[in-house]
Amino acid sequence: MSKLPLPPGSTIGILGGGQLGRMLALAAGRLGFDVAILEPEPGAPATRVAAHTVVGAYDDPQALEALSKLASVVTFEFENVPASSVEHLTALGVAVAPGARALAIAQDRVAEKTFLNEAGVATVAFAAADTAQAAQDAMASLGAPVLMKTRREGYDGKGQRWVEHAADAPAAFKAVGAKPVILEAPANFVRELSVIAARGRGGEIAVYPLAENHHEKGVLRRTYAPAKVTGETADQAERIAAKVLSGLDYVGVIGIELFELADGRLLVNEIAPRVHNTGHWTMDGCEVDQFEQHIRAVAGWPLGPTHAHSQVEMLNLLGEEADAWAKLAGEPETRVHLYGKRDAKPGRKMGHVNRLRPL
Ligand SMILES: Nc1ncnc2c1ncn2[C@@H]1O[C@H](COP(=O)(O)OP(=O)(O)O)[C@@H](O)[C@H]1O
Ligand SMILES: [Mg+2]
Repeated sequence: MSKLPLPPGSTIGILGGGQLGRMLALAAGRLGFDVAILEPEPGAPATRVAAHTVVGAYDDPQALEALSKLASVVTFEFENVPASSVEHLTALGVAVAPGARALAIAQDRVAEKTFLNEAGVATVAFAAADTAQAAQDAMASLGAPVLMKTRREGYDGKGQRWVEHAADAPAAFKAVGAKPVILEAPANFVRELSVIAARGRGGEIAVYPLAENHHEKGVLRRTYAPAKVTGETADQAERIAAKVLSGLDYVGVIGIELFELADGRLLVNEIAPRVHNTGHWTMDGCEVDQFEQHIRAVAGWPLGPTHAHSQVEMLNLLGEEADAWAKLAGEPETRVHLYGKRDAKPGRKMGHVNRLRPL
């Protein structure tokens, strides 16, 4: 393992070359680091702002070895990196942050909720089922309706079905791919919030103000931050973030999705062991954004301040919406962030804008 804090001029490895990797690479560059991206697709967004790219599958031993030769520490930009890749890099002597355990827990919705409850963090009631029959049986105790989700690899609302009656469970199980599932009781939330937080190498914790999130068709559309919340809600979120980060012995930035209930209680929906779309507002609302914060944490640098200096509305630019870049760039209150994706498929995240107002 390299000596920490990592000095400028060192190379940080990133598994994944999408927009999150790109924004991490740009933040790393600001602090004087070089970045090496491991990514299967040549020309992916992060590779075009990185000093080094290794093109290969995440579990390709040669690619992992090449990355380990380039990078002093390695991190990842998405949670479906195989846990075995992290173990392989660790065996090659490279420190990987946030680490194999956080990754393994976040990859499996049952392990995730089990960990959260054991750490004293509330979630909806849930049950695991590996077969259609088990899913139907589980509804006898959980009640109806339930939200059925594949345990692994779901994102942007994919692999999910509401099940209204126990008798419909087998058909739903088939529809989500006949894979192991989690059944979740409905969260009767009034709002969806999220908290972005970081933990440094020495265990210190920094928590950003809460964000309020609006989804369309399962995809994040807008974030308003700082969210209008009571001091009690902000305190609750900080306590949750501290329990999650310490419980995982975490290093780096984490995104924690929350349901706010009518009585003010917060439930955790899911955790993302990486920088998070609902934290993009920090790029223009805070002095040190989530990307720089993550780089600081994995490099063993001091964490930066997390308070907001502006009110931000973040809007994701999906598909052709990014074609309006010239108009958006002409709005004085709007900061434009484009990911350099060449192919504007419908619904694809092409960029985002942060619209600023004084706090
Ligand atoms: N138990 C639940 N009750 C009610 N709504 C839910 C529940 N779980 C998820 N949702 C809704 O579905 C969205 C996507 O679910 P989530 O678990 O966050 O999956 P993904 O990994 O696709 O983001 C959430 O943002 C929320 O709007
Ligand atoms: Mg989610």
